[in-house]
Amino acid sequence: MKICLLPGDGIGPEIVAQAVKVLDKVGGKFGRSFEYEEALIGGVAIDASGAPLPQETVQACKGADAVLLGAVGGPKWDTIDPSIRPEKGLLGIRKELGLFANLRPATLFPQLRDACYLRPDIVDRGLDVMVVRELTGGIYFGEPRADGEKDGQRYGFNTMVYYEEEIRRIAKVAFEAARKRSGRVCSVDKANVLDVSRVWREIVIDEHKNYQDVELDHMYVDNAAMQLVRDPSQFDVMVTGNLFGDILSDEAAAITGSIGMLPSASLGAANPGLYEPIHGSAPDIAGQDKANPLATILSVSMMLRHSFDMGEEADSVDKAVQATLEKGLRTGDIMAQGCKLVGCKEMGEAVLAEI
Ligand code: IPM
Ligand code: MG
Repeated sequence: MKICLLPGDGIGPEIVAQAVKVLDKVGGKFGRSFEYEEALIGGVAIDASGAPLPQETVQACKGADAVLLGAVGGPKWDTIDPSIRPEKGLLGIRKELGLFANLRPATLFPQLRDACYLRPDIVDRGLDVMVVRELTGGIYFGEPRADGEKDGQRYGFNTMVYYEEEIRRIAKVAFEAARKRSGRVCSVDKANVLDVSRVWREIVIDEHKNYQDVELDHMYVDNAAMQLVRDPSQFDVMVTGNLFGDILSDEAAAITGSIGMLPSASLGAANPGLYEPIHGSAPDIAGQDKANPLATILSVSMMLRHSFDMGEEADSVDKAVQATLEKGLRTGDIMAQGCKLVGCKEMGEAVLAEI
């Protein structure tokens, strides 16, 4: 299997390095071999070539069976021309590879119960949510968009637009995912205000006709944000558009204890899928061996499962992560009393030892 590595900026290179070690160990154990090609994305690509997503990077990704990404962005590029910001690299590669479905599973590891922000009685009801975020449409990509000056004032606008086909295919992904879980989908929109959301809801309801075994309900995004902290146990799969999904997935991650634990898979109609932690480049701790590599390691597990159909291999990674947490090893973001504080490398090595 050929994997394109896009370490990117900030803590990206540190966490990707640990995840690659895990892949190699899994490969050795199960007789699989993984080949890597590294390419530039984000700020490092801007520094090297003037663009956040060089053509060679797109080609390297397209030529691979899967892509593993670290993170992009940082203060160094915050004042750059917005059209070549590091984030454009990430949005660009999602679009280039047609990765319209972003799966962001937020589960609470029992070992991290103390790191959870919610009241114990709420946590006891369970926390296992799969956010299915539409990733190549909506307001992130809608046209027209502008940033300019009109009538002597600065102004800016974006367009939130969804076509039926875009809604239908992401709804399908959500219904299929629900079938493998507890069979419930909550579609999140703002249909009380936005036209685009009314179409969203109409199409989700229509597509649901093909999935009568799955339970479907709808929630406005403001209410969903509240319900997610009030009682996350009511959710199984949440399906939503690009912007709402961006926000709700951070919230879902944070209530599990740390955004440093959440992996993601971005999938299209065909391989290669792209796998990345949902957190960012954390420039404040970059290069200090403090980052939590577990979200990236768990992203590798998602890669094994979704792109390579290697369920057993994926299970071995998940189990190793659990066992490492069980031993009381913690990076700063999930540190709790009585645990051992470790760095990025030590955490990675501890996971390796469990495989
Ligand atoms: C994410 C990130 C990205 C997004 C940024 C870095 C462009 O927040 O993957 O959630 O908004 O999609
Ligand atoms: Mg985000």
